Amino acid sequence: MAKPTDRARSLTLITGASDGIGAEFARLMAARGHDLALCARRLDRLDALADEIARQGRPRPLVFALDLGDPAGSEHLAAALAAAGARVEILVANAGYGLIGPARSLDRRGQIGIVDLNVRALTDITLLLLPQIVEARGRILLVGSIGSWLPGPYLAVYYASKAYVLSFGEALWRELRDTGVSVTTLCPGPTVTGFQARAGMAAAAASSSDPRIMTARAVAEAGYAGLMAGRRTVVPGWRNKLVQWLAPLAPRTRLLNMVARMQESRTG
Ligand SMILES: NC(=O)c1ccc[n+]([C@@H]2O[C@H](COP(=O)([O-])OP(=O)(O)OC[C@H]3O[C@@H](n4cnc5c(N)ncnc54)[C@H](OP(=O)(O)O)[C@@H]3O)[C@@H](O)[C@H]2O)c1
Repeated sequence: MAKPTDRARSLTLITGASDGIGAEFARLMAARGHDLALCARRLDRLDALADEIARQGRPRPLVFALDLGDPAGSEHLAAALAAAGARVEILVANAGYGLIGPARSLDRRGQIGIVDLNVRALTDITLLLLPQIVEARGRILLVGSIGSWLPGPYLAVYYASKAYVLSFGEALWRELRDTGVSVTTLCPGPTVTGFQARAGMAAAAASSSDPRIMTARAVAEAGYAGLMAGRRTVVPGWRNKLVQWLAPLAPRTRLLNMVARMQESRTG
């Protein structure tokens, strides 16, 4: 007799798929034959992306318009996936945001919202889906940041949240090594997306003519290659790799002063 899961649709779930890096993950994974479920708050953008993918002759992704910053957001998403007969084989936990400025003057609720989305929701959706991902011997990609590797004055809560993502991702990578499940933490540096506007950064912080700023497509391509190769961490771009290698070697106060100067110059 067939088990209920035998009829389930095996999917890749991408959170934060309505824009930026997540939307590029959706485009490139659909083109490589992955059947998708997309989640973010803006339904119109998710629907437009699902239609774009369907027009290319791929299965239309399932779309879930949900606020993952809500304490029950991840539970609602897992329940909606189950109700749609979906079984998640690959998770791309990408939804996230930051706020630039001094922690003492930024909106407190906005800063706690970063923890709610980047830390709590990312952890909750991973834990909720882990049994089915292990059963499918699937894959997980968590989106961290170059800020995962160093503290970030003027983006203090954001960098701290991304340090958590790297710590959680690397620990899971080790725990799950013998289960056939790979866990990859992707740590992009500055990338042209909606991130800078939401963070309140100066317009120049998202200039596509700045060679230090990568495209969302390039970041998604590097992340996808690392995900499919089962790599523990992926830091896209040589400038970002340099930061990753040099940060632990630099005197801590000098490092903090350098990051503070850089972030102050990006404050809008
Ligand atoms: N861009 C960079 O420079 C950079 C660098 C390092 C790391 N990252 C990380 O990359 C990831 C993707 O960011 P991005 O650069 O692509 O920024 P983005 O263009 O602003 O995209 C963020 C995505 O997250 C979704 N999202 C935001 N709040 C949400 C919520 N409460 N519930 C559900 N979905 C939510 C957004 O959709 P809705 O608004 O429709 O909900 C959007 O799809 C983030 O984790 C970010 O921290 C970005």
